[in-house]
Amino acid sequence: MTQLNINGASVEVTAGPGDLLLWTLRDELGMIGTRYGCGAGICGSCTVHVDGVATRACITPLAAVEGKQIRTIEGLAATGADGSVTLHPVQQAFIDAQVPQCGWCMSGQIMTAAAYLEAQPAASEEQIVEAMGGNYCRCGCYVRILRAVTNAATAMAARPAEVTA
Ligand code: FES
Ligand code: FES
Repeated sequence: MTQLNINGASVEVTAGPGDLLLWTLRDELGMIGTRYGCGAGICGSCTVHVDGVATRACITPLAAVEGKQIRTIEGLAATGADGSVTLHPVQQAFIDAQVPQCGWCMSGQIMTAAAYLEAQPAASEEQIVEAMGGNYCRCGCYVRILRAVTNAATAMAARPAEVTA
């Protein structure tokens, strides 16, 4: 048994400290928004946030994330007290730019972009290209991905400081 904090909730799982976060999310918790691509830490499809840092769940054992805040694509949007849901600016920008083709890599793309822009909301296009360089898209949606992340950066840089934290 391992105690995890996922998307703001404390969750007990039967997986042990040596089990991988990706399979705990997908197989035990049914959180299939985090995708399996290469399984070797290369493609970025499985990216989640651990204490705000983009992290590859396919090579991360639970021992490395106990006591830390894990955020997955399912927890990226904000839910208001009245139950209303506001998409993260990166999610909205991906929709607005109609980025996905097959969609398989997209939660990893979005989670990588969100972690980066939350730390660097005024990022330049060159910085965004570098930050997103480790996330592969086999459909080749890179032009639209760059457009969406650049638009999200513009939106996030324009927000009041208290909501960009
Ligand atoms: S599935 Fe984790 S980096 Fe490819
Ligand atoms: S949209 Fe198909 S792999 Fe990226």
